[in-house]
Amino acid sequence: MASHDNDIPGDEAPEQHERTYSTGHLSLDKSGEDASGTPADGIPTDSPEAPPDLDSEAAQIVHQDRDIAVAVGDNLVEIRDLTVQFGGLTALDAVTFDIRRGEILGLIGPNGAGKTTCFNAMTGVYKPTSGTVTLEGKPLRGMKKHAITRAGFARTFQNIRLFGEMTALENVVVGLDARHQTSVLGALVRSPRHIREEKTSIEHGMALLEFVGIADKAGELARNLPYGYQRRLEIARALATEPKLLCLDEPAAGFNPAEKEELMALIRTIRDDGYTVLLIEHDMKLVMGVCDRIVVLEFGKKIADDVPKAIRENPAVIAAYLGVEEEDADGAA
Ligand SMILES: Nc1ncnc2c1ncn2[C@@H]1O[C@H](COP(=O)(O)OP(=O)(O)OP(=O)(O)O)[C@@H](O)[C@H]1O
Ligand SMILES: [Mg+2]
Repeated sequence: MASHDNDIPGDEAPEQHERTYSTGHLSLDKSGEDASGTPADGIPTDSPEAPPDLDSEAAQIVHQDRDIAVAVGDNLVEIRDLTVQFGGLTALDAVTFDIRRGEILGLIGPNGAGKTTCFNAMTGVYKPTSGTVTLEGKPLRGMKKHAITRAGFARTFQNIRLFGEMTALENVVVGLDARHQTSVLGALVRSPRHIREEKTSIEHGMALLEFVGIADKAGELARNLPYGYQRRLEIARALATEPKLLCLDEPAAGFNPAEKEELMALIRTIRDDGYTVLLIEHDMKLVMGVCDRIVVLEFGKKIADDVPKAIRENPAVIAAYLGVEEEDADGAA
């Protein structure tokens, strides 16, 4: 019998499934909610505007203490038979895969395949009906969202979620504050430690904004930022929690090709800085160009798990996306 734990949409309502696919190749562009530039939380969006170039020096400031280990290593995360049911609907059906330390792993599949549900089950938004997620061998079962964040998972959302009435810098500092040691009393009386931490937070926050290429808008209210900046700000805020795994849910939705190229460069820089990345993305050019490995879902089940070249040629994957035989999809990007 299905679990009803997840029947009431909470943080993550079901997505609108409106998307058009071009046929004959795997370059799939979303024309849904995100592409229209209307993120959640009532934050108005402008037309996409390209952020400035990345400053690689900022990476050094942000993570001086981080071990830079680019090589793909042991299993960081192990997902085993993960199942999520909503009433009678099995959104995720006994899905098993590993995320290796230092890799960029793509999670792809047609609309409604269960990608966001997988993120939600991993990050504590939904309670899995069954199955396990372990981080460095430790099971996360039963842990609340904030505990899972502290354990090392950070994410961005398919529909942008920012504190619209806070500045860009404040949005990042909120993430950093979770790491602070001072007590509430210490903050109220502005103890030396609190002042020191506050200064460090601001410097660290600025370095993170610089890292993602939006430092010039640090003082702007999040709601007034151009759409591309909002997407980057979400990434900066997620990085502020010093995650072991960064989960990005369609970070390029609504971007033009030039912005997508820049985002690919940012994701590579993030990986090169020692993070492990799990990326949900519909644009096949981006996915194939940036991922080390790709897991494909269809109707809640895993249908493939391989390197990009093999995924591109996998008949089941091509059929899942296009409903055509492999030879009809030769133009795959
Ligand atoms: N809170 C919920 N309550 C009921 N059904 C849900 C809920 N969240 C997701 N679903 C359903 O679960 C299935 C998987 O949805 P999910 O959002 O994970 O797909 P997705 O792969 O992320 O799709 P998209 O590419 O459109 O974002 C869909 O049929 C969706 O309608
Ligand atoms: Mg989704």
